[in-house]
Amino acid sequence: MKGKQLAGEKAVEYIEDGMIVGLGTGSTAYYAIKKIGELVKSGFKIKCVSTSTSTTELATTLGIELVSLNDVESIDITIDGADEIDKNNNAIKGGGGALLFEKLVATASKKVIWVVDSSKMVTKLGDFLLPIEVIPFGAKHVYNTLEINGYQPKFRYTNEMLYKTDSNNYIIDVNISNVSNYLQLQEWLDSITGIVEHGLFLGSADMIVVGSEDSCDTLF
Ligand code: 5RP
Repeated sequence: MKGKQLAGEKAVEYIEDGMIVGLGTGSTAYYAIKKIGELVKSGFKIKCVSTSTSTTELATTLGIELVSLNDVESIDITIDGADEIDKNNNAIKGGGGALLFEKLVATASKKVIWVVDSSKMVTKLGDFLLPIEVIPFGAKHVYNTLEINGYQPKFRYTNEMLYKTDSNNYIIDVNISNVSNYLQLQEWLDSITGIVEHGLFLGSADMIVVGSEDSCDTLF
C-alpha cells in the first residue's frame, strides 16, 4: 500500500494553483485525490474533472470543486492509476471499470501522469486481463467474436450480477498474453461494433510515477 500512497501523493506536486485537473479512479488515484483535497483546503483554486462515480463521491466529501468534461476546453493535468505498464509506456487500465471516462479525460489532457506501485511495471502486458466495455445490446455477439479469435473472454460479474459501468455497459475481460502487436489489437478492437472502449492505453502517459516501499521513481 505504501508504494501507491507515495506515487499518488508525489504526482500532486505537479499541480499548480488555478489548474484544471483530471481525477483518476482506483486505490492509487485515491491518495492523489486525498492530497488534492489538502491543497484545496490550503487555498488552491483547482477545478477537477472526475472519471467515475466513486471518484466523484470521494472528491465531493473532500470539498473539491468538480466540473463536467463538457465545460472545459482541456485539462491541465490528469493523475490516474494503471493495472499494468510495459517499458514502452503501454498500459492496461480499467480494472476498476472506469476505462471509458478515463480515456476520455486522458485524451482531453495536456499532461497525463500514471501513478502505480512497482508491481504494475511489467516487461510484457497480459498477466492482467484487458477490460473491454461493451453495450449490453448484442453483447453476446461481441463475446463470441472475441472467443473465436482466441481471447478467452469472460463477462465481468460483481455479487453474482453482471457488472455495469457508470455508463450502464458491460465489461468483458480478455486474455492478451499472446499478443505482441498492441497497435494491431487496438485497431481491431476499435473496429468491432458494440465495443464502446477498451483498456489499452498505448503510449499515452507523459509521466509515470512508480512508488515502492520507501521511495518514488519518476519516469520521463
Ligand atoms: C480503473 C483503473 C485504475 O486506474 C486501475 O485499475 C488501477 O487501480 P489501482 O490503483 O486500484 O490498482 O483503470 O478503471
